Formats: sequence, C-alpha cells, structure tokens
Amino acid sequence: MKILVINGPNLNMLGIREPDHYGRETYDDLVNKIKAYCGEREILCDFYQSNHEGCLVDKIQEAYGGYDGIIINPGAYTHTSIALLDAVKSVGIPTVEVHISKVEEREDFRQVSYIRLAAVKTVTGLGTDGYLRAVDFLEEYLNK
Ligand code: DQA
Repeated sequence: MKILVINGPNLNMLGIREPDHYGRETYDDLVNKIKAYCGEREILCDFYQSNHEGCLVDKIQEAYGGYDGIIINPGAYTHTSIALLDAVKSVGIPTVEVHISKVEEREDFRQVSYIRLAAVKTVTGLGTDGYLRAVDFLEEYLNK
C-alpha cells in the first residue's frame, strides 16, 4: 500500500501559526510522525506541501497510477477550490480529507468543503493525530 500525504497553504507554518488552532508541532514533526506510523505498518508514504493551488492540482494528477490512497489537508483551499475537487475526482484515488482544527466549530466560511464531495472520509479536530486516523481508515478501506 502506497499513500501520498498532501498539505496545502500555510501548513508549512505549523508550529508557528495560530497554535491555539493548530498546536505546536512543526510540519517536519508532522511528516516524521506519519512516516514512523506508516513504517510500523509497512505502508509506503510520500509527502507534498505547496501554497499554490495549481501545484496541488498537478501533484494530484501525477499521483494517478502511482498511489493507492491520498490524505489531503487542502488548508484554505478546502473552502474555495473546485479545481482540487475536480482533480481528486479525475484520478479516482480514494482520498481522505483531514483538518487539524475542528472546522465545524469555526467561522461560517469554513463550513463549506468542496473536496469533501470527493472524499471517502473526513477527519477533523484531532490535531495532527487526524492524519494517523486517516492512515488507519485507508488501510481498512483498501484492504476490504
Ligand atoms: C485547516 C482548516 C482550514 O480552514 C484552514 O484554512 C487551514 C487549516 C485545518 O487543518 O484545520 O489552513 O485545514
């Protein structure tokens, strides 16, 4: 099983940005945590982060044929990007949407998620552990 973990805009600022919402772990901490978790389960994982919508679309397209699952936190593009939704639909790779914060308890503009329309699962409000729950979900989903 091979998964791609994609993080969108400002997630490279983890540990610095709004710790009350996103905690104190850095992006590197997050990557290392997921790598260790996947390593114990013999799951191959690659990582990508970009602040640019088109680069995220390109990466999702490149994943076609190369990955069994995608875990994506599109950051603010969650609430605006039909292009990311269409990219996930285009490749047809089972995709889990993750948010570190509990978006459903935040501002009205965060209540819309385009990517959710193509996601097989959404995980919110569990901090960075949410990515590990997404791995768990994909493992079960893909092996059933
Ligand atoms: C986020 C929530 C989004 O609303 C926000 O724009 C982010 C991070 C989260 O992980 O909680 O950048 O996706």
